[in-house]
Amino acid sequence: MCGIYGYVGAKEAAPILMKGLRALEYRGYDSAGIFMIPSGVVKAKGEVSALQKKLPKKLSGTAGIAHTRWATHGAPTNVNAHPHTGNLKRVWLVHNGIIENYQELRDALKKKGNTFVSATDTEVLAHLIEDILVNGNAKNLEEAVVAALKRVHGTYGIVVMDAEEPDTLVAARLGSPIALGIGKGEYFVSSDPSALLEHTRNVVYLNDGDVSVLTPEGYSVLARGKKTNGRVPEYLDWDADSIQKGGYEHFMMKEIMEAPEVLVNSARGRIDKKTGAVKLGGLEEVRPRLKDIKHIVIVGCGTAYYAGLVGKYLFMELARLPVTVEFASEFRYQNAPLLKDTAVLAISQSGETADTLAAVREAKRQGCLTLGIVNAVGSSIARETDAGVYNHAGPEIGVASTKAFISQLEVLALLALLFSEKTLSAEDRRRYARAIDRLPQQVEEILKQKDTIKKLAKKYGRARDFLFIGRAYQFPIALEGALKLKEISYVHAEGYSSGEMKHGPLAMIDGSFPTVALVPKDATYKKTLSNMEEIKARKGPLIAIATAGDTRIKDIADDVIYIPNTLEPLTPILSVVPLQLFAYYLGVAKGYNVDKPRNLAKSVTVE
Ligand code: F6R
Repeated sequence: MCGIYGYVGAKEAAPILMKGLRALEYRGYDSAGIFMIPSGVVKAKGEVSALQKKLPKKLSGTAGIAHTRWATHGAPTNVNAHPHTGNLKRVWLVHNGIIENYQELRDALKKKGNTFVSATDTEVLAHLIEDILVNGNAKNLEEAVVAALKRVHGTYGIVVMDAEEPDTLVAARLGSPIALGIGKGEYFVSSDPSALLEHTRNVVYLNDGDVSVLTPEGYSVLARGKKTNGRVPEYLDWDADSIQKGGYEHFMMKEIMEAPEVLVNSARGRIDKKTGAVKLGGLEEVRPRLKDIKHIVIVGCGTAYYAGLVGKYLFMELARLPVTVEFASEFRYQNAPLLKDTAVLAISQSGETADTLAAVREAKRQGCLTLGIVNAVGSSIARETDAGVYNHAGPEIGVASTKAFISQLEVLALLALLFSEKTLSAEDRRRYARAIDRLPQQVEEILKQKDTIKKLAKKYGRARDFLFIGRAYQFPIALEGALKLKEISYVHAEGYSSGEMKHGPLAMIDGSFPTVALVPKDATYKKTLSNMEEIKARKGPLIAIATAGDTRIKDIADDVIYIPNTLEPLTPILSVVPLQLFAYYLGVAKGYNVDKPRNLAKSVTVE
């Protein structure tokens, strides 16, 4: 849940490390630190800018490590910030992950005379490596790291330095992402490849159990203790601009505005506009196995889970396949027996969410086919699933998921079409293809209404609670609308199926409790309309998300945001856009940092 960066080469390391940290800040931002030889260590509580202010004017060193933290063990303080070191201040280390047996290791090291200054699990690892390097049989830092990691239970992505070997970085991974940037006479380490793009597009992803040594002369990779011939770097063809804000005030707004482009990219080359035939390259290898699948279990967390709920309706309606959707964080503890003809589909933007990855591993253990819908190329879930589909949404920097969600919905629609060879007629298939093709333009039309939505956010900005209701395909969007509002504006919000109103939530409604009703012209339109009448009768203010041309809705709702007409299973892709904008404007109006909501981090790589 933290960002780590490392550099070794011929240039001054400090500016490179600081830039890397700024790009990784979305992964954690409660404290930061940097270490270089000979300049030493600087740490600061707060965002990376606080560290920048604290840096001495002259910093020297052509190798170094840096870290931006999201606290797990120990409060966000200067002392708990990384890099950490051992008693002798010889070994320095930055870490992302959790050392589960840190207490036991700490006690053993204390008995040997080690003293600890922080409350972190990471400091224990620095002491352990240093102890093995100085008092054990290790010939160099690499051997000490390998030996120390054998004694560790937990997850880590680490970069380590030895003050006596200043031109060497040792990086290792188990459960937390590490990417190496391969330059000419210079090498980089980052927890996210997007932070490498400025320097190089040649990237090596470390696998679990890998240890890598990087010097200005080259890099090597040891896989679970065995020498490898090195790994061939992958070329990242991401657009460097896509990791900048592109002129918007916030990444969140930039990413919402990118939705039309994302919809084009996620479908590009995957659906034949004329016939509706779907081809997903990442699934080709397992295509024969797909024919035997009788049941799908979708797993994900947060927004990705809600995408999964939409996926359930899609697979059931289009492909007539039974689907269950589980929070990955629950699935791993359900001890669920899985049938062999079940495919487990993991949805994850980052591809690193610990619970989702654990669910994939459990499904594999039980012999199921595992599939992924993942945005981050080369991430753990992308690599560990048997096959999958990349979102092609580009890097999502805002902590709240917006464009990735939209692309997840589109990929789910494509996947459902792929599974529906026997259940959909050729004409229906063509209708879907045409409707999918129109989506980018339709989202553009919704985005044009952003000033109206901004005004609505102002109008309702003082409300303390919000209800979001919708039915069938709109129910997951009601949940997602409520989640977005909670995380961005810290306002209490609940999502409900409109059919459930009379079973409890209606009791909350009064003149100060607004409801956002998702009421497009679909199969449940009239039902949700009745629910809105019930709310109106209790003086509850109503904002409707309705289909363009629906004039009747104006008689019931206080305010209406119109979305273009599309096929019902694709409507969520349109109806969520106004809700993302609404949450954004409400958060901005309240003066919050919408790109980095408090207490949250972009990539949840610990449980
Ligand atoms: C909410 C949000 C989170 C993520 C969740 C899963 O806006 O972003 O709820 O959707 O943490 O993350 P990924 O998709 O990276 O597995």
